[in-house]
Amino acid sequence: MTLSKTDLYHEVAQQAQALMAGEKDVIANLANLSALMFMRLPQLNWAGFYLLKGQELVLGPFQGKPACIRIPVGRGVCGKAAETGLAQCIHDVHEFEGHIACDADSNAEAVVPIYQNGQLLGVLDLDSPYVGRFDQDDMNGLQNLVNILQDAIA
Ligand code: SME
Repeated sequence: MTLSKTDLYHEVAQQAQALMAGEKDVIANLANLSALMFMRLPQLNWAGFYLLKGQELVLGPFQGKPACIRIPVGRGVCGKAAETGLAQCIHDVHEFEGHIACDADSNAEAVVPIYQNGQLLGVLDLDSPYVGRFDQDDMNGLQNLVNILQDAIA
């Protein structure tokens, strides 16, 4: 039986909660969350994190092919999320001005900012080879995962 998207995110959220409950270490939690997302969410080619260091986002724990290491705040989809504090749901990355192509296979992208005690910590970043892969249900599910992470590391 195939789960509905809402049910899938509900299950993944329960697993994320179980993995991170009582654990405050940022890198450990990001590593497990990237593995969980890559394992459970279909049609992804990259799942991971960039962490804010000064005026740049620096590559953090991820699953997928090796990726760009440094992204200036304001550049690309990740940099826009970091600059504005707003999640980004990109239907087709080729239509996003300034998109940073780490992998030619990526066609859609979802990015959610992450805060630690009110300060921007970095962003969650998912890439998919399928145009239009991410919709509002994904964004709600991903924001919920980020909320669980933020609660664990607060
Ligand atoms: N495409 C991203 C760069 C990071 S990779 O997708 C892993 C961007 O435009 O911010």
